[in-house]
Amino acid sequence: MSSIKGFSKLSKEAKIEWIVSNYLNNEAEAIDFLKSYWHPDAPTQKLHDEFIENTISNFYIPFGIAPNFLIDGKMYCVPMAIEESSVVAAASKSANFWLERGGFKTQIIDVQKIGHVHFIWEGQDAKDLHAFFEAIKPRFYAETEHITKNMQLRGGGILDIRLNDKTALEPGYYQIEATFDTCDSMGANFINSVLEELAKIFRAALADTTLIKDSEKSVQIVMCILSNYTPHCLVRAEVSAPIEALSEGNEMSGQEFADKFCRAVRIAEIEPYRATTHNKGIMNGVDSVVLATGNDFRAVEASAHTYASKSGQYRSLTHAEIKDGQLVFSIELPLALGTVGGLTALHPVVKFALKLLGNPNATELMKIAAVVGLAQNFSAIRSLVTSGIQKGHMKMHLLNILNQLEATEAEKQQIVEHFKDKVVSYSAAVNAFCQLRGIEIASVSGIK
Ligand code: MEV
Repeated sequence: MSSIKGFSKLSKEAKIEWIVSNYLNNEAEAIDFLKSYWHPDAPTQKLHDEFIENTISNFYIPFGIAPNFLIDGKMYCVPMAIEESSVVAAASKSANFWLERGGFKTQIIDVQKIGHVHFIWEGQDAKDLHAFFEAIKPRFYAETEHITKNMQLRGGGILDIRLNDKTALEPGYYQIEATFDTCDSMGANFINSVLEELAKIFRAALADTTLIKDSEKSVQIVMCILSNYTPHCLVRAEVSAPIEALSEGNEMSGQEFADKFCRAVRIAEIEPYRATTHNKGIMNGVDSVVLATGNDFRAVEASAHTYASKSGQYRSLTHAEIKDGQLVFSIELPLALGTVGGLTALHPVVKFALKLLGNPNATELMKIAAVVGLAQNFSAIRSLVTSGIQKGHMKMHLLNILNQLEATEAEKQQIVEHFKDKVVSYSAAVNAFCQLRGIEIASVSGIK
């Protein structure tokens, strides 16, 4: 296979031609295929092209809606961007369930973001470094004002700057740790710019100071970067209902359901294998809102999983208990989100999603995303402790199987009807399809 220098400098068409001639046997259909996913409106396509480098086409994932979320007394229709078939259905089901039981209640615990200048100083006495640091602290605030002024006008900025001694972990390792309020922006660029400026101020002040011996003025700035672990940018969401309001028809009394539900959550609190899947289900909900609203789901994921490990063991992000005859089910998770800056003002679907949510500020969006995570987890556990997960999952997946078999719309309708009162499995769906068409199973491509 070929390699290339200067790929990013080629036009989009030239990039496609190069890929197709070097990696796709010159298949003309590949070019048509990629172009068929271009947006028909050229400026809109150009906007998408410029989000990243080397764009050749667009990658679609569904944009769905989960209506009926009652959060702190306000109704929301929640936009979700996700490819997994059952997630929006599960969120909607949970929203409806809790709509009839008082809805979701939320609380912002804190909104601080954090970043570090990681550096190595190999002086003898950490006390000298601390004394120097305290002496120059006001300069950190004053000399970063050209970056922080606008954020301060919006009510945010640098909250605190401290020196951390990490020499017990690594010889000579210290950090300048800064905490920030970035208001309605996620603030990554703001934080990183401030940190790089802090490092410059630190280095310049060190060169001039008399508080540190000349022989100890050497410092290595290793890196300046925000931390995606934001345990102090934290939101809590909760639902509760009297146990008798939780009966699962004839299948289970409210008490049985609540007991089994709490036990399932407890297992995720004590058993990392289950906790991982449990939290994955929570993140199905959280990520889909985060993505639909133009936020960085990788940052949110990384932070959530570190938070889940804060006790030293990976645990559930949700908690369930029975208190005074009520099932109380809650989530607490860090969510560093923004509703201004980044993609939020650029991506047309993101703009639509935010509008649909009533243009929330960052804390309101934190609440919504946490609620959808909790809702998702409720639906998953509810299925797991009653009918099992596959019944709902496979019902939602049926259309994917039928699409893979290239079933017609009429065939899909008949087969969906056929499975109304039956359990869906991959082989049962293939059987039903072959029977309907009057063909041998072996003749269906990809089926052995
Ligand atoms: C599937 O994407 C998510 C679940 O496995 C979550 C869970 O088990 O709690 C259903």
